[in-house]
Parts: sequence; structure tokens; C-alpha cells
Amino acid sequence: NRMFGDRKIGARSVDEITASRRLRRLRKADWSRRMVRESRLSVDDLIWPIFVIEGENRREEIAAMPGVYRMTLDLAVAQVEEAAKLGIPAIATFPNIERGLRDQTGSHILDADNILNKASRAIKQAVPEIGIITDAALDPFTDHGHDGILREGVIVNDESVAQIAEAAVLQAASGADVIAPSDMMDGRIGAVRDALDANGFQDVAIMSYATKFASSFYGPYREAVGTAGLLQGDKQTYYIDHANSDEAMREAEQDLAEGADMIMVKPGLPYLDIVHRLKDAFAVPTFAYQVSGEYAMIKAAGANGWIDEDRAMMESLLCLKRAGCDGILTYFAPQVARVLSER
Ligand code: PBG
Repeated sequence: NRMFGDRKIGARSVDEITASRRLRRLRKADWSRRMVRESRLSVDDLIWPIFVIEGENRREEIAAMPGVYRMTLDLAVAQVEEAAKLGIPAIATFPNIERGLRDQTGSHILDADNILNKASRAIKQAVPEIGIITDAALDPFTDHGHDGILREGVIVNDESVAQIAEAAVLQAASGADVIAPSDMMDGRIGAVRDALDANGFQDVAIMSYATKFASSFYGPYREAVGTAGLLQGDKQTYYIDHANSDEAMREAEQDLAEGADMIMVKPGLPYLDIVHRLKDAFAVPTFAYQVSGEYAMIKAAGANGWIDEDRAMMESLLCLKRAGCDGILTYFAPQVARVLSER
């Protein structure tokens, strides 16, 4: 525009400054923004974590996670049917185990009829088209809330790994399509792979919680699985220090070498740099877990009218895609699927 373009700003005119680059040209209309958009969120990107409990026709709201419930299997199966209809490809199941069944070693994880395995069987039978991802970790099963066996104040590595590998075989036998070890013990991916193969489950995949950080964002989940009041100390001796990024690379490299088919970063949004580095370096299916605390923050701010909940939800997930994620575990999954289907 000659009228303003020749106005000098310092030594150069606006025309001279913007001669070759007017980035706003492609932002001016919806059609051109859509045409040049680099990342997209689709229902295929969603994995829905759900919480299951014993009983019938009962659901319990989790205070810090509005809209998320612990569900008995009848209700859970109905919800998973809904999720499949919405096009959500997979769910991830987590149990809340009654207090009396929790012990020092988390032995109930080795019960073929624990609620997690029962959930897999019920869901596989009723909704065979959805993928089932089970969390192979001891924390919902121990009376101290740790992901491994606790002996004299120490989470013992190798004994925990052996138990997790055995539990993974039971989970596969119950219908899990993907085993997701979330415990961060050294060597667990290789042990789970060997155990699955030795028992005829060569086709069951492993999604490793490869880079799981010691984080304050897991608070509401611990309420959901009932470990909040039990956890003794913290998990810094086995989860990655959230100050570290090179260490996350070594973890992922090792898990892939041991046989992980997919890797995951957890939590999600504060760890976009990790997602980006991993995807760049390894070019393998890479996921993020938008964890309970992230969900709670968006919900709380939305409920207060401080942010637009749906927009913040969609933006946070799209940004995870932009960073390099192939998919995201999110408690928002059904809500996202509905927003996407209304577009
Ligand atoms: C532990 C586990 C955690 C989550 C899932 N499995 C973290 C923890 O309690 O340390 C967190 C999920 C969330 O916060 O949404 N095996």
C-alpha cells in the first residue's frame, strides 16, 4: 500500500521490510488457514484411559477429575461401546483395588480374576473392535502405592520385573492387545517381551512408558486408583528427574532395544521438548499421556470461566501432535471425539 508502505521506520520503509514476507497473507481467511495447516487432531489419535471397580451398576466420581468415574464393568463396557462408536481406537484400563487385597508385593496382580483382567475379558467380548491397553504396574495392587515391591525402604528392581512380566502374560491371556509397563524398573521391557513370546503372545504389542517423569501432575490419578493416602514417600528413585532430557533419550533407546513397539512420554504438555527429541531421533510410534493433573487444570479453569474448556482441550492436544505425537492418552477422549464429529 503506497499510502503507508513508504512511511519510514528507521532507515527502511514498511514496504522494504515486508517486501518478501507477509506471513499474514495466508492467515486472513479460514480457507487458507485450513489449506496450510500443518498438524491435525483426529479421533484416530485418541486413547481413552478408564478406571474400573468391582460391583454392579455403580460409578464413583473422582473429585479432582470432573466427568471421570470409576465404573463397575457393566457400566464400563457400555461406555467403551460408546467410545468405539465415536471411532476411538483404543482404551487403557486402570483398576481401583479394594484395600484388603493390597499387600507389600502387589500379589493380587497375579490373580487371573482381578478386576483388570476381568475388564479385559468383558470388553474384548462385548467390543472386540477396540484396542485394549493394560497397565502392567504394581501400584494399584500394593499397600504402599509404589510401582514395585518394597523391601526395607527400597523398591527392589529385579524381583519387581519378574512379577510384572508374569502379570503381563496374564493380561495378554485375558485379552489385552497392548501391554504398557508404567513402572520404570530397569529391564522390564525385555522381560515382558520374553515372557509374552515364551507363552505364545508374540502378537501382543508393548507400549513402553519409556520416559515417565517424577511429576506432581499425577495427583488426581492417585485418588482415582486409591493410592493417594497410601503412598509412602515419592517415586524419585525410579521415575526420571523432570530436569533431565538426555536421560530420557537413554531410557527410550534402551526400551526400544529391549523390544518396545511404541514409546510414551508422560506427562504431556510440559514435556513437548521430550516428545520432539524422541520422535526426531527414533522415528517410532510415539505417544504422550495427558495426565490427570493436566486434565484437572483445564477442567478447573474452564469451570471457573477462566478459560474456554473445549478450546484449551483441543489446543493442548493439537500441540502434542505438532510436537511429534502419533497419539495421546487423554481423559478428554470422548469429549474430543464429540467436538470433532460436530465440525
Ligand atoms: C503408575 C501410574 C501413574 C499414572 C498411571 N499409572 C503415575 C503414578 O501414580 O505415579 C498417572 C496417570 C495420570 O496421572 O493420569 N503406574
